Amino acid sequence: MPGDRSLIVRPARSIQGLVRIPGDKSISHRYAMLAAIARGTSRFHNFSPAEDCASTLGCVAALGATWRRGEEGAIEVTGIGPALKAPAAPLDCANSGSTIRMLSGLLAGQSFSSELFGDESLSRRPMARIIKPLSEMGATITSSEGERPPLKIRGGKLRAIHYQPEVASAQVKTCVLFAGLFADGETMVEEPIRTRDHGELALQAFGAEVARKKAERGGNVASIRGGQPLTAIEAHVPGDLSSAAFFLCAAALFPGSHIPLPGILMNPTRARLLDILVQMGLQISVGHIEQHHGELIGAIEVRGAKWLGGTIAGADTAALIDEIPVLAAAAPYSENGLEVRDAKELRVKESDRIAAVATNLRKMGAEVEELPDGLRVPGRQKLHGADLDSFGDHRIAMAFAVAALRAEGETLIHGADAAGVSYPTFFSDLRSIAEE
Ligand code: S3P
Repeated sequence: MPGDRSLIVRPARSIQGLVRIPGDKSISHRYAMLAAIARGTSRFHNFSPAEDCASTLGCVAALGATWRRGEEGAIEVTGIGPALKAPAAPLDCANSGSTIRMLSGLLAGQSFSSELFGDESLSRRPMARIIKPLSEMGATITSSEGERPPLKIRGGKLRAIHYQPEVASAQVKTCVLFAGLFADGETMVEEPIRTRDHGELALQAFGAEVARKKAERGGNVASIRGGQPLTAIEAHVPGDLSSAAFFLCAAALFPGSHIPLPGILMNPTRARLLDILVQMGLQISVGHIEQHHGELIGAIEVRGAKWLGGTIAGADTAALIDEIPVLAAAAPYSENGLEVRDAKELRVKESDRIAAVATNLRKMGAEVEELPDGLRVPGRQKLHGADLDSFGDHRIAMAFAVAALRAEGETLIHGADAAGVSYPTFFSDLRSIAEE
């Protein structure tokens, strides 16, 4: 599990200053995977420095693609077309659910067998959600008990399917669309609730046609015809809004704070966070909107004013799934507290994030009610510094670094370096804007 170093976070008096947020993790994974099966050399500026994305690069290199760091830190991936090479050893996905789930879609279409494994946390995560559709398409997949990693995938020629996933998951949608590239006919995914669409946009960026429409049930339908060739691209990866969320929530804790965040992802399937934060009292302005390969990017400026709290449920929960830990960790300082519902998925992330948030908040002296599918955190609470655990989970480490800024006394976060899984420079960036 990631994270064996402890860090102390001291309370701050105010929060001021610009932060350059690293490239988006979801987009970086998809670009690296598609570049591996494209023809030519793709070049990605601002590619995510996350350990998770390094796992993806390691896997695609083991499958025959080559990558290197080019000029100005750009990541260049040279693809070998749709037929990858059989890996010499099992593929190490480390802590990355995105790597194992989405790469499985590409491996299902290969004419060789491969094995994917990960760390202790990844080995506990459910894989039935991808095993089911990929098996229906014709791949043979074996797994550990409870349909968990390691996975052995015997790929081959695939059949197109119309798939309606039970869980709203962009990883599953992308996995099936990736496999659809190797299928006869048109593969369709109809999701129950709209999830992030980086998979669809990335496929289109590399030259594939992806048809998209609204579904009757309220979600979206995306479909792809098999056999479409992909061509290398040059792209700029927008700053990761889920990483920016830690600074947005830090600003919420300090009326009068001001944080400019240039070059942030504004994709509407991710930006619901900004609407919710404005409803909760933050002042947010967005400017300089541009589009890169279908992904919107803009400059955010956030000012702390009131911090009201509120409720997150239904489609909002799916749209904010990665930001809920930090929203909940900051909630005791709000006027009205926070209620999170419909968030059972949080229990099967890198840690059980509902239990992890509740445990750490209680250690800081907060009152919190743990629900099967969420949390109820009352507002107007005073927290004290404490000895906390990241539970080996990057977002828990970063969420509680934010909560610690307003606590009385120092907070020690065990396993704080788990942050590197998505944001290796998080603690130095946080220190650069926190005035003690
Ligand atoms: C991701 C989708 C979400 C999210 C994860 C990244 C993606 O997971 O929590 O951090 O890049 O598609 P699910 O698809 O499991 O909801």
